[in-house]
Amino acid sequence: MTDSPQPSDWRSESASLLATRYGLESWPDAEVVSSPTIDLQLRHRSVRKFTAEPVTDAELTSIVAAAQSASQSSNLQIWSIVAVRDAERKRRISEAIGGRSYVEDAAVFLIWVADFHRAAKLVETQDIEATTVGYMESTLVAFADSGITAQNALLAAESLGLGGVFVGSIRNNPAEVVAELGLPEFTFPVFGLAIGHPDPTEQAGTKPRLPQAAVLHHEQYDAEAWEQPVSDYENHLAEYYAEFDKPNYSWARTIVRRLGSAAGLHGRDRMRDRLREQGYDSE
Ligand SMILES: Cc1cc2nc3c(=O)[nH]c(=O)nc-3n(C[C@H](O)[C@H](O)[C@H](O)COP(=O)(O)O)c2cc1C
Repeated sequence: MTDSPQPSDWRSESASLLATRYGLESWPDAEVVSSPTIDLQLRHRSVRKFTAEPVTDAELTSIVAAAQSASQSSNLQIWSIVAVRDAERKRRISEAIGGRSYVEDAAVFLIWVADFHRAAKLVETQDIEATTVGYMESTLVAFADSGITAQNALLAAESLGLGGVFVGSIRNNPAEVVAELGLPEFTFPVFGLAIGHPDPTEQAGTKPRLPQAAVLHHEQYDAEAWEQPVSDYENHLAEYYAEFDKPNYSWARTIVRRLGSAAGLHGRDRMRDRLREQGYDSE
């Protein structure tokens, strides 16, 4: 325990949160270390149904400050957010990516932008061309920093009682999103984050994650470690979905669909071309 005091039964509550995170009845380990921050993280679920209550400017300011507080590669700060509240713009973006009610119903739709525009302009003031923007490393860094900062934002929103869902499907149709947001050269829409007040009628809970035996390797990567935990997870996730009236769900089937054919990428198989159009040659 490192942050503010917890109620006296925090240990059992944290153990229960850990168990739920892995789809277990109870947490087998007697030793539980937690904090209010970790408990909040363990409680995370994506929210796709929102009430009409707005997100205030003060809330947005704090959420963005939390995002900016994340570590930054070389302190370059090569990302930006476009906050969309306008109902018509949200509707058009939703339409461009195949129709997403959570984009339209969110109080605010935040689009993370990999952004070398600002830095490149700064370099140009010195009569130097920003040649490394076209390198693959620049693409990777801008995308990595976008992810790191955006998760800070979602956690901040959740700490305020708000909820949200990331929207990677804006990359189904980056060209239309670029046009809608007026994104200049050296910028690229990475993902959206729909934020609002959770509608309590939404049928969703804490979605179990892979057992740690699948994701945590000690000292060296164990290439054989995946099989048993993945098989256990198949059952945990099927039980989770059955609870919400989705019988016969298979995680394996989802992974196969996504990795086994370009069709599973919903138009995102041409990403290098889309990046090039925005000045990210990614060579
Ligand atoms: C980068 C990123 C993009 C995502 N894109 C979408 C999306 O387009 N639509 C959607 O419904 N959920 C999207 N999600 C949410 C995931 O589906 C969700 O986090 C995952 O199923 C785990 O569920 P949970 O967040 O409720 O625990 C995205 C998540 C991430 C991290």
